[in-house]
Amino acid sequence: MKRILFVCLGNICRSPLAEAIFNQKITEKGLGGTYQSDSCGTSNFHIGNSPDTRTIQNSIKNGVPIRHAARQLTDQDLHSFDLILAMDQSNYDTILKLPTAYAHQHKIKLIREFDPQEGGDVPDPYYGDEEDFQLVFDILNRSIENMNNTINKDSN
Ligand code: 4NP
Repeated sequence: MKRILFVCLGNICRSPLAEAIFNQKITEKGLGGTYQSDSCGTSNFHIGNSPDTRTIQNSIKNGVPIRHAARQLTDQDLHSFDLILAMDQSNYDTILKLPTAYAHQHKIKLIREFDPQEGGDVPDPYYGDEEDFQLVFDILNRSIENMNNTINKDSN
């Protein structure tokens, strides 16, 4: 069992969507028993909340079921997960400030390291509109597709 954690700021827009896309792809490939995923936020802004209504609308539009209650990242997560994927550089920098981050640095990556088009940040859509949410979906969809091909190859 490999455990993957998606991390953003609020855990209501980008990272719960990444988790939902990942779960759908893994289930489609018949690998539901091989991977476990979760998402969280670096902030405490929305603890316990469902995904943003715009994220839910966008995920419905794209045919990806989403269900999550926001939680905040903890130092324990660095021990519990095998791969920790930050949505942007700011999230990445915050993760690296956790007490035991240094020992787990090899597990912490920017998710767009897997984007076949270009690296960088998954842009924060919180103050954006539907176009921005769709851009987030498209970036996550192709990055996670490529990541799954890569990690499945590694474990074979
Ligand atoms: P997320 O988006 O990090 O993708 O969940 C945000 C959600 C909430 C806020 C910022 C970004 N906020 O400032 O409350």
